[in-house]
Amino acid sequence: MDTRSDTPGPATPDEIRSRIRSEHAQISALLARVEALTERVGDGDSKSVLALRDELQALGEVLLAHLHYEEYQLPSLADEDKVAEMVEGMRREHQTQRDIFDAVIRDLDETAVGSKLVTGVRELSRAIRDDMEHEERELLSKPQVGTDV
Ligand SMILES: [Fe+2]
Ligand SMILES: [Fe+2]
Repeated sequence: MDTRSDTPGPATPDEIRSRIRSEHAQISALLARVEALTERVGDGDSKSVLALRDELQALGEVLLAHLHYEEYQLPSLADEDKVAEMVEGMRREHQTQRDIFDAVIRDLDETAVGSKLVTGVRELSRAIRDDMEHEERELLSKPQVGTDV
């Protein structure tokens, strides 16, 4: 998968939207695997902890690159008079996701993996899915800025 965001030349709004949408689909799939494994770990299947660690690491890589890309490109999709508000809201939502992700990884490194981890992953899922839904509703489904008739 190519996640480089340093391709020269500005991306068009359509390119930005389609890249973000496809990353959302990828994140959603990774999240579903993490959620399924977390339930198994919560049910006492300790062998799943290692698999969960790998899946979380994979999710983390894609998620952190995605947040970074959005912080770089999403402001260009907002209406001009709403950019500051949008950037502030995004900063908050993304910080929440980074904090919960770090907390989940910390919990995973502790010896007693249990209900705390399950709760953490649920919280992480909710934060990520809320953000994706919000972005898709507010920023990815709109007609291109400047093309309104
Ligand atoms: Fe986001
Ligand atoms: Fe996103």
